[in-house]
Amino acid sequence: MGLKKVGILTGGGDCSGLNAVIRAVTRSAIIEHGAKVIGIESGFEGLVFNHTQELTIKSTRDILTLGGTILGTTNKGNPFEWREQDHDGTIHVHDHSDKALQTVRDLELDCLFVVGGEGTLEIGYKFQKIGVPVIGIPKTIDNDLDKTDYTFGYQTAVHVACEALDRLTTTGRSHQRVMILEVMGRTAGWIALEAGIAGGAHIILIPEIPYDIESVVEKIRLRAKGGSPYSVIMVAEGAKPIGGDVVTQESATTRLQGVPQLGGIGFYLANEIKNRIELEVRCTVLGHIQRGGTPTAFDRVLGTRLGSHAVQAAAEGKFGTMVALNTPDIELVPLEDLAGVVRRVPVDSQLVKCAESIGINMGRDKS
Ligand code: F6P
Repeated sequence: MGLKKVGILTGGGDCSGLNAVIRAVTRSAIIEHGAKVIGIESGFEGLVFNHTQELTIKSTRDILTLGGTILGTTNKGNPFEWREQDHDGTIHVHDHSDKALQTVRDLELDCLFVVGGEGTLEIGYKFQKIGVPVIGIPKTIDNDLDKTDYTFGYQTAVHVACEALDRLTTTGRSHQRVMILEVMGRTAGWIALEAGIAGGAHIILIPEIPYDIESVVEKIRLRAKGGSPYSVIMVAEGAKPIGGDVVTQESATTRLQGVPQLGGIGFYLANEIKNRIELEVRCTVLGHIQRGGTPTAFDRVLGTRLGSHAVQAAAEGKFGTMVALNTPDIELVPLEDLAGVVRRVPVDSQLVKCAESIGINMGRDKS
């Protein structure tokens, strides 16, 4: 089928590499098909309010290395469950999917490229079911999307977290301190695990393995006894102690969306350790630094490949699918297969075993 006009939106939390995808979709749609490309602003919100801009080769020039998304994004604004709060705090939920659908029709889009993580792609699938030709493009620093080897944005986040760990290690060693680095990842420990291995962490705590504080402290004691009175701990924001719960923060957005915002386990852990040993403990929360800035070469290439392949799939009419990395190829998987699946670190995976085999404590008694 010929492509005349396509739309693209970026939804959910941003990450490095989004602009590489926008650029690839725009260039490929124009160069290969002579199509017009419409950028939808601020995720699905732009569909509800008809906020769009035309994307051209010129307007997407020089954005390959730029962090964030030139289209803007939001992790609010699900048109099917649009949430608004009254002055008295009452939350009202409306269905604005008809408005979004009307915008797609008014724009006469042959395809809507939905770039996002699990939540955004689920919304994309809902639009597909009501008649919008959708192709999903997987994004998230958390790498927790099923059916793709990697999501773009993840490698950049790992690189940033690894560099932060390297820096904390040198200061921790100088001062003989226990240094804790808290990283993102939601309910998956991929960033903590891979950046922790890459940065030589002594202890890595991930959501998938509730940790035993005594095992953690014992590792620090043993290191001190063995002549290394400093330790570096990588902890994922979703980690929790055995029998305990995750640490969360309150915010207006989380109240409105009813989704808890993870964060604070690093400081909680620091206190738990301080109460048990004499060493000084410091905690750093890396936060959104993992999401900003220039993508790594890997994420630029992955984003470009996914964008280009998505346009090819649209030209072949393969809607209701997501482009996915099945190394070494990009393949198509049904959006339907993604619904509600979050890919987490298998607790007895090779990667976890590898970490434990070289003496990294994973919060359980194996090292
Ligand atoms: O899903 C990406 C992510 O960065 C998570 O790792 C983190 O828990 C969350 O988004 C933070 O969201 P926000 O930008 O709303 O603080």
